[in-house]
Amino acid sequence: MNSVIYFLKPFIALIKIMILIKLGGSIITNKEKPLTPNRDLIRKIASSLKNVDEPIVIIHGGGSFGHYWSVKYDMHTKPQKYSIKGVATVKNSMVELNSIVLESFLESGLKPYCLPPSDFMIGDKPLTKKVEEIPKIAKTGLIPISYGDAMWFGKNKFYILSGDRIMGVLAKLLRPRLAIFVTNVDGVYSDMKSKRLLSEITTEMPITSEVTMDVTGGMSRKIKEAFNISKGGTDVFFVNGKVPKRITNAINGKSFEGTIFRG
Ligand code: IPE
Repeated sequence: MNSVIYFLKPFIALIKIMILIKLGGSIITNKEKPLTPNRDLIRKIASSLKNVDEPIVIIHGGGSFGHYWSVKYDMHTKPQKYSIKGVATVKNSMVELNSIVLESFLESGLKPYCLPPSDFMIGDKPLTKKVEEIPKIAKTGLIPISYGDAMWFGKNKFYILSGDRIMGVLAKLLRPRLAIFVTNVDGVYSDMKSKRLLSEITTEMPITSEVTMDVTGGMSRKIKEAFNISKGGTDVFFVNGKVPKRITNAINGKSFEGTIFRG
């Protein structure tokens, strides 16, 4: 079976046309300063994406907007009866950050398509028919842009849907050619002390080993999603968005700098 997949891989790569990119909150906002977007960097990243001629779908995180408020109001990914003031505040801040991202993309000559996650999720489940529209929208040249958000779960409960989880949900249904996590570090480190960068992680690697042990909570969630996405056959890249060229290099298969999870 494995040899059949190996033989078919180049053909599968030709059929798959779509790139899923997560712009982490650490890169689009200044996480040290509440409610501070990194407008220059967002614009630089958008400008570099102008050179990509494959359909792109963007997901962005909350950083010093949604993340900041979800911590303040003690809201988590677990569905619960959270403060409704907290729900309102997180949602408002994400709409604000999303409109900054949309504006930057438009100003850079791209055609962003605002896609709140409630458009394609009900509770914590994806609406398959709506998700299947996303690549069709992306093929027109528009760039669907979604984001982590506070979501209605049902029975008066809400939950925080992270952008990383959206990556996992969309990758599972859409099987993009590539998934890219853009953060403010060079990739996945084996541990925070030595800062040894892991250039490649394969599905054979036991993910519970040194890889996740010393990384921060946020990073370990990304790694978990990345590992599952790669198991589904999509290569996953972690790159540093402070050097936007690394994103396009990953897309074009050029001198790659970062970490690859081989699908
Ligand atoms: C955060 O999404 C969503 C909210 C807190 C509303 P992420 O968890 O993906 O955000 P970052 O990228 O880590 O900031």
